Amino acid sequence: TAASGRGMRAVGVLGLGALLAWLPPAHTDTFSALRSVRQARGNEGRLLRRLRAYLREESARLRRLSRFYEKVRALHQDPSASVDNPLLAFSLIKRLSSDWPSVVYSSEATENSRALHVGFQELQRELPGAEDLDGAARALMRLQDVYALSVKGMANGLFQPTSTDRPPLYSPGRRVSLSADDCFHVGKVAYDTGDFYHSIAWLEEAVSRFRLSYGSWNPEEERGSLEDALDYLAFSYFMAGNISHALTLSREFLHYGTWGSDVVPGSWGEVLECLYHLYMGLGQWGAEVGCPHSAWLKDTADPVVRALELRMAAITGLDLRPPYAEYLQVVNYGLGGHYEPHFDHATSRKSPLYRMKSGNRIATVMIYLSAVEAGGSTAFIYANFSVPVVKNAALFWWNLRRNGDGDGDTLHAGCPVLAGDKWVANKWIHEYGQEFRRPCSRDPRD
Ligand SMILES: *[C@@H]1O[C@H](CO)[C@@H](O)[C@H](O)[C@H]1NC(C)=O
Ligand SMILES: *[C@@H]1O[C@H](CO)[C@@H](O)[C@H](O)[C@H]1NC(C)=O
Repeated sequence: TAASGRGMRAVGVLGLGALLAWLPPAHTDTFSALRSVRQARGNEGRLLRRLRAYLREESARLRRLSRFYEKVRALHQDPSASVDNPLLAFSLIKRLSSDWPSVVYSSEATENSRALHVGFQELQRELPGAEDLDGAARALMRLQDVYALSVKGMANGLFQPTSTDRPPLYSPGRRVSLSADDCFHVGKVAYDTGDFYHSIAWLEEAVSRFRLSYGSWNPEEERGSLEDALDYLAFSYFMAGNISHALTLSREFLHYGTWGSDVVPGSWGEVLECLYHLYMGLGQWGAEVGCPHSAWLKDTADPVVRALELRMAAITGLDLRPPYAEYLQVVNYGLGGHYEPHFDHATSRKSPLYRMKSGNRIATVMIYLSAVEAGGSTAFIYANFSVPVVKNAALFWWNLRRNGDGDGDTLHAGCPVLAGDKWVANKWIHEYGQEFRRPCSRDPRD
């Protein structure tokens, strides 16, 4: 199950690639892998170096301009520099006819900024786009829900569950808080998908942060503003059915907005009409949802894979040779990466899994290849337990009963990774080939 899914980006499909197309769609929603986040960080490092070069060039240019300015100003302030002196007259005329134009029309500034543009464009293809930003926003909201985190806490850099006095789930080495515009963006992503529950929480936080800095200009936040956040927040309340609060907020909005405080409409009807026109103008932009990255590894891919397969065969006592088992699947879950509850086995005879012609997935071996700082447990929903991520630990379970029926208790989910990089290897073992290793039984309880 785990590997398929809409829009899955396989980092490298070795062997059995075709199986990817067979697998039933899994309901996944994950921010891109942590590896991509590290790459993004590397790319930002490159941008920083380009910006530093630009600043160096521009400072040198401005220093040259200052020197010219100082030189000319000194001549103008010197009473003894009379225009009667033919040499001074010559240099004045030369300056005006030649030096000034070259100072004013210098293309140096353009060249410097062009170099900066080119440097950025070279990297642009590798930089995250709007889709990735939306995915990251959704990952934050998922963490908020799954671990019952308060939005205010998260915006302040804390991972503290709201309703308990338990210690924080994760304490980052360096506490990073979110800006008003960051919160505004998360709220907007929720808003755009009609998720007013989340948009209210995040826009509330954005509004309270914008209110604190209202009037003080912050270049990093010029995109979002208190007005915009109030606008979206009021409409979120409106859609959530809290009309009176929507009106209170839209009054505040009108107060700050371009109308000015002296033309606040007096009646609710006017405000509603006003709201209607404002919100008809707000666009909807959905985005593709990211998924965990995965790859299929044939045992010939590397001696390590072969050794791992032999060890799994020895431990389980099952026949893992193709086609009795699928190739080893390696999955990387990034920040907030998770899997919705699912069964590993096929629940319909029409499932593409049967195209391997070796029956259903009788058992699963799941190996945690990495540790994470927080989150990421595998939760067995009906069986009511979860297994935390412990590096090099392996989970084994039978998906099918001895009579071949699926075992409902194996419904499981990958909880969102709160902090860290979760790597998992999955081995799905099929029914065929195991007839003498796990004999059948007609008893449905077996
Ligand atoms: C509307 O929202 C405000 C602010 O969150 C809250 O105090 C109020 O109780 C809500 N009213 C209704 C009817 O839900
Ligand atoms: C699930 O397990 C927890 C703790 O192990 C227990 O408190 C809870 O009652 C259990 N829930 C069900 C539905 O069995």
